[in-house]
Amino acid sequence: MSTHNAQYYIDREDRFGAHNYHPLPVVLERGEGVFVWDVEGNKYFDFLAAYSAVNQGHCHPRIVRALTDQAQKLALTSRAFYNNVLGEWEEYMTGLFGYDKMLPMNSGAEADETALKLTRKWAYKVKGIPRNQAKIVVCNGNFHGRTITIVSMSSDPDAYNDYGPYTPGFVNIPYNNPEVLEKALRDPDVAGFLVEPIQAEAGVYVPEDGYLRKAAELCKKYNVLFIADEVQTGLARTGKMLACDHENVRPDILILGKAISGGMFPVSCVLADDEIMLTIKPGEHGSTYGGNPIAGQVAIAALNVIRDENLAENATRMGEIFRSEMRAVQSGMIEIVRGKGLLNAIAIKPTGGKTAWDVCLAMKENGILAKPTHQHIIRFTPPLVITEEQMREALDRIKKTIADFGF
Ligand SMILES: Cc1ncc(COP(=O)(O)O)c(C=O)c1O
Repeated sequence: MSTHNAQYYIDREDRFGAHNYHPLPVVLERGEGVFVWDVEGNKYFDFLAAYSAVNQGHCHPRIVRALTDQAQKLALTSRAFYNNVLGEWEEYMTGLFGYDKMLPMNSGAEADETALKLTRKWAYKVKGIPRNQAKIVVCNGNFHGRTITIVSMSSDPDAYNDYGPYTPGFVNIPYNNPEVLEKALRDPDVAGFLVEPIQAEAGVYVPEDGYLRKAAELCKKYNVLFIADEVQTGLARTGKMLACDHENVRPDILILGKAISGGMFPVSCVLADDEIMLTIKPGEHGSTYGGNPIAGQVAIAALNVIRDENLAENATRMGEIFRSEMRAVQSGMIEIVRGKGLLNAIAIKPTGGKTAWDVCLAMKENGILAKPTHQHIIRFTPPLVITEEQMREALDRIKKTIADFGF
């Protein structure tokens, strides 16, 4: 246990750190599987899992070993030289997901930026769109990260306001609306359609069955790249390796991050076939840390864990239990329970002056950590290693918290 109480650490962050987050008042110092412990020794179910980065559970021993073994041999060479891990990792990834090539980056936002750059290169080098005219269609409510270009496509005022001037070349349309998409794709200057298979940050909006399939077909019809941002939905979170797999859709460009390293290390990547990937030539894009040997070993270990521990199947089963149990709860505070696999959310109706934030504070007192997104929605995304017994215990605690409000 730490020598200081929680308030000490909260005060340090408040005084010396930028105020770009508003954390729940809990200070964590240890994690194992679905559990985390705070500096005062209290144990919690982690129902956020670092925004789905920790699908494999905290400090998974196989991933820790991959990290520490490689860190003691060789950590970083940059891409000025070859290293003996990157090619193995690329072969593993392209084999697993069925693409010609992989391009490694670090954060999810960087992988999204990479996908946007690839789309524009492809627009000019392959599709033949006049220089600097290419457009990319995106959806209202999207979340793809925090860079200037990415927030330029955002419809969320908190992400967007006061960061202009913005990057041009994006067309915003409603999510889950194939008719409007088709209209947008008729413009011959459109090069790509970037979409989250489920809009997670926006509040876990699951599109209608068939939307992704229809969108992919329309992209093919109009010679537009279908770009799937699976940074949060991918890697077993929704009950399949990719959320696109639910509709047998193969994106032209696939973006992965977060759980690709099981929360151990910032790793992301983009996958595509040669016609797209080879439009970027040496020196035209990169990152000092992208493709480092630790990232490669950690990613291979993290993906092997997903496969060997059947995390996709478990996400399906545990998700069904979560939704059916929570939908049966009688409370004036619960507006809707929605999700797929273990990517779920509950919309809270502010009642008697109590909001989703108050529910999260009360859940913390009952040993459950979760966080509101967009004021009234609470996301429930535990590590995918959660057992049925653990899920049922967590559900008892969540239900008790809601019942205690008495609405
Ligand atoms: C769908 C999606 N894309 C991209 C990102 C950005 O990832 P990162 O925070 O690693 O830059 C996120 C993060 O939440 C995300 O949910």
